[in-house]
Amino acid sequence: MTELRHYLQFNDFSREEYDYLFDRSRWIKDKFKRYEPWHPLFDRTLIMVFEKASTRTRLSFEAGMHQLGGSAIYLNTRDSQLGRGEPVEDAAQVMSRMSDLVMIRTFEQDVIERFAANSRVPVINGLTNEYHPCQILADLFTFIEHRGSIQGRTVAWIGDSNNVCNTWLQAAEVLDFNVHVSTPPGYEVEPERAGLYGTDHFEQFADPMDACKGADLVTTDVWTSMGFEAENEARKKAFADWCVDAEMMSQANPDAVFMHCLPAHRGEEVTAEVIDGPQSVIWDEAENRLHVQKALMEFLVLGRVSGGEQ
Ligand code: CP
Ligand code: NVA
Repeated sequence: MTELRHYLQFNDFSREEYDYLFDRSRWIKDKFKRYEPWHPLFDRTLIMVFEKASTRTRLSFEAGMHQLGGSAIYLNTRDSQLGRGEPVEDAAQVMSRMSDLVMIRTFEQDVIERFAANSRVPVINGLTNEYHPCQILADLFTFIEHRGSIQGRTVAWIGDSNNVCNTWLQAAEVLDFNVHVSTPPGYEVEPERAGLYGTDHFEQFADPMDACKGADLVTTDVWTSMGFEAENEARKKAFADWCVDAEMMSQANPDAVFMHCLPAHRGEEVTAEVIDGPQSVIWDEAENRLHVQKALMEFLVLGRVSGGEQ
């Protein structure tokens, strides 16, 4: 039987496991592009629980599970007993007796940790207030496809020190690269909340132009994440100078790529010129959610699989 593992934050896996997952994502993606069926999770069931909105995460997990031969069930807070206060521990006991895998998008990280502690099957973090590990798995795979190994490279994060930023910072520790972070005053990285072991792999810059200098990848995200909508007006004012534009991109290395997890607000955190420009790899980034999460689900349910063997 495969050891029970969860994917709740980026540092749940080792560098060596990520090497495996990136290779496996490549294999699964190539096979998919050749229209060759691959059904290692035949007859398996994924339950997806959404307490926040989603387009990419829902589609990539649901389509991915079907493509692996299994089926996916969608639940949201509004239509399930979770929205009526059923304890998360009880929900975990029940859901994990009816499925092989659970993916959750929720608010506090504590919720998903309590769920996982009571689950008989692997639990995947589909975004919490603190982390978004599946996104960075896809972003790293996309960088590797376009530019090769991330080790020793520099990523510039411009904007809010949110769940996606925290996950980049954890990834830098696990995979040994650097992150330059520039946030407005008052929105700086909190290393403890980001779940970091130290401060060796990131540097904070007051000026976003400085953060972009020498970067191999420039990335940003919305100024107001889901769950923080009440702060929207204050954030729009505070973040006005943290819009990634052509001038910022010109500070980065000439072959730097631009990424955004999406959805994006053109004219706020990034200009249309940049996000729709030649350095942007956002569509590959979005597509790769599908391929890396198929590799992730296969790994969590079956352990390591080599080639077409099961
Ligand atoms: N990037 C991302 O997770 O998108 P969704 O919110 O649409 O799932
Ligand atoms: N930081 C954003 C990411 C959305 C995919 C949010 O949490 O809303």
